[in-house]
Amino acid sequence: MSGTAAISLSARVDSLKASSTVAVMNKAKALKAAGVDVLNFSAGEPDFNTPQPAKAAAIAAINANATKYIDTAGDVPTRELLAKLLTERNKIPNVTKDHVLVTAGVKMALYLAYQALFDVPTVPGQPQQEMLLPVPAWVSFNPMAVLAGAKVIELPTTPEADFKLTAAQLKAAITPRTRAVMLNSPSNPCSTMYSRQELAAIAAVIAEAARTIAPQIVVISDELYQNIVFGTDASGRPAEHVSIGSFPDIAERTITINGPGKSFAMTGWRLGWLSGSGEFGKRFIAGLTKLQGQSITCVSGFSLAAMRSALTECDAELEMMRKAFASRASLFTGLLRQIPGLKLANPVGAFYVFPDISAHLGKSTPKGAVIASAADFAAALLDEHHMAVVPGEDFSQATGHKHIRMSFACDEAQLRAGAERLGRFVASLK
Ligand SMILES: Cc1ncc(COP(=O)(O)O)c(C=O)c1O
Repeated sequence: MSGTAAISLSARVDSLKASSTVAVMNKAKALKAAGVDVLNFSAGEPDFNTPQPAKAAAIAAINANATKYIDTAGDVPTRELLAKLLTERNKIPNVTKDHVLVTAGVKMALYLAYQALFDVPTVPGQPQQEMLLPVPAWVSFNPMAVLAGAKVIELPTTPEADFKLTAAQLKAAITPRTRAVMLNSPSNPCSTMYSRQELAAIAAVIAEAARTIAPQIVVISDELYQNIVFGTDASGRPAEHVSIGSFPDIAERTITINGPGKSFAMTGWRLGWLSGSGEFGKRFIAGLTKLQGQSITCVSGFSLAAMRSALTECDAELEMMRKAFASRASLFTGLLRQIPGLKLANPVGAFYVFPDISAHLGKSTPKGAVIASAADFAAALLDEHHMAVVPGEDFSQATGHKHIRMSFACDEAQLRAGAERLGRFVASLK
């Protein structure tokens, strides 16, 4: 045992930021395992169990020995089903089974997409390809794209715009180096959603840029929370999920990503899919299939039996969970609004709140911890009141330090207890 201190890791991995959501989640789990009564609001996963028909389908598939390697891109019945759903429900044109790849979760789908889109500059002085990322945004988009070689340009959104990118803002940010625009609706962490009109305006800007200064531009649309929609739009009507890939002018330069994890309480099954459209979409998926073949080979076939069941036989369970998220959203936001100095938007979809806690920055806790940032706020809340929330810093460089993210994918008793602990913590700050 000598000399191992000299062994280095790759610069790529050394410089990679660890996931802050996963870090808080693991810390909360470790405290809980050590017997501490932790209230965990950090985990972005439903507290429900995977619907019974999906579990039964996987068990039957295992018993039928669906335990071997399958087609690299996912078995044909699954890809045919996804192509049908993308065509009929998402209204995306020109999608066949050859435009779909099934992979190990939406995270892996994004990882593969970024690897296939970005190049690390090889010539000194060569500019990096850019990814435009409206923020606050989920913590892994930025580091995963950077790992692939992208330069990520964060586009700060405002509470006044419901934390959504405007078409004018996008237009001003596009350059000849723009390779990708990253969208996520409904959004983690803001739980807001783009309307059809807003997406149409964004699509028009992208189509124009593609014809003029940014011919390589593509859209990556993470629609993981597509089925968890319960709020209303600006005119008070029930909000509607719209895929930006349904706009004909940009359909063939849009990559749509989704998965069963959040909607069907299947996070641990590690499944997700990507789809393209038309000529480029098919070529893109073929490239990703090569990449998957040289990495994870394929996902497990028996888990796809479960996913097909979820997508075709579990509408009642899906609706039960959607309704539960709706009532939790209203309960939790009502309780949080009673806490002085917390500002928050109404969640429209997904299951997060992202309150602005900046009224409390500069204060101290009874134990003497100074709250200079969301990271300090979250650390002191965990330390002094055993409540785990995710600090906002990694969701936005510009404004993240003013926010915390809490998931309301937990039962009502926990929501009430959490609001009570958070209220006590805030009241203790001087
Ligand atoms: C917007 C978004 N994309 C992707 C993921 C990762 O999804 P998966 O668990 O399917 O990899 C998450 C998880 O929290 C998310 O919120």
